[in-house]
Amino acid sequence: MADLIHIIGTGSYVPAKALTNADLEKMVETSDEWITTRTGIKERHIAAPEEATSDMAINAARLALADAGVDALDIDLIIVATTTPDMFLPSTACFVQKALGAKNAAAFDISAACSGFIYTLETARALLTAGTFKRALVIGAEKISAITNWKDRSTCVLFGDGAGAAVLQKTKGKGILSTCLRSDGNLTDILSVPAGGSRRPVDRQVLEQSLNTIHMQGKEVFKLAVTRMVEAAKKALELAGKNESDLNLLIPHQANLRIIEAIAERVQVKRERIFVNLHKYGNMSAATTIVALDEARRSGQVKPGDLIELVAFGAGLTWGAAVIQF
Ligand code: ACO
Repeated sequence: MADLIHIIGTGSYVPAKALTNADLEKMVETSDEWITTRTGIKERHIAAPEEATSDMAINAARLALADAGVDALDIDLIIVATTTPDMFLPSTACFVQKALGAKNAAAFDISAACSGFIYTLETARALLTAGTFKRALVIGAEKISAITNWKDRSTCVLFGDGAGAAVLQKTKGKGILSTCLRSDGNLTDILSVPAGGSRRPVDRQVLEQSLNTIHMQGKEVFKLAVTRMVEAAKKALELAGKNESDLNLLIPHQANLRIIEAIAERVQVKRERIFVNLHKYGNMSAATTIVALDEARRSGQVKPGDLIELVAFGAGLTWGAAVIQF
């Protein structure tokens, strides 16, 4: 049996405060009916003002370490996927390292928006396969509420905050069989936070025009999300030597139920084998797929021997998929 890099523990965390569609009705001109029929989202969790991305990441990481039965001192690699780091520097991963006391680890962040966790998973897989590191903690964590324009009804209803974490190590006969990562830098404009970085530092005009928040061409993103996630899901399965009918569970990025339904129509995976939790959390960007995987594991939907696929799509554009044998 070949050595693979496997997920030996997972954990997830969402902030205490739930923001329902009824709450949003009081903030912008929208309705529970519009949000539910257009997106499938019923509520999302919002971090407290003093709660940073790393705070959520740390909570998820502690649960993942406990699930794996691994001490923080035995982790030698920490990677955090996030679009909403605590600060420009240092990396969010270094705050996680400090809180966990994981002093034997190298720590850094990856920025790939909603696909961030799958990019992080593959980066850790490659480094562990090469033998550079032995045991990795990989995290997707986001405080999207910090880059949300709460006056823009076309975006503020879509997102939520949260974090998920996984512990990875070499395992005989089970683990990550294949991944597929892709990007299209020609489409940076259709989904971005235009200011607040080095190209356009924050000034009065930026704040007045909310250019330091998410701007999205929803319809374009929707169409590309469907086609690219279907392509990635099929490619990763092909690379793993598996078929769509072999999948026990497909965990797609949780941005919009209509996107998930469109994917379901295009892949040969029965609807009951497609995991959905977006009604509770909205789109948590890089945290989405790992929070979903953790929930699926904890609810008994991932059994030993099951074949699972994660697939995600986000700003960049970036997209990707991973096929994992449990
Ligand atoms: N409440 C009520 N009406 C609204 C709202 C709202 N919250 N938001 C928009 N509308 C209105 C619009 O103003 C528009 O009105 P008009 O026809 O009078 O102009 C109408 O509803 C239709 O708007 P559309 O944008 O055409 O609605 P659509 O059906 O495309 O749904 C949505 C919009 C939900 C954003 C969808 O396009 C979508 O999910 N896109 C993909 C998002 C995504 O996948 N993102 C993933 C990556 S995110 C990342 O990487 C961080």
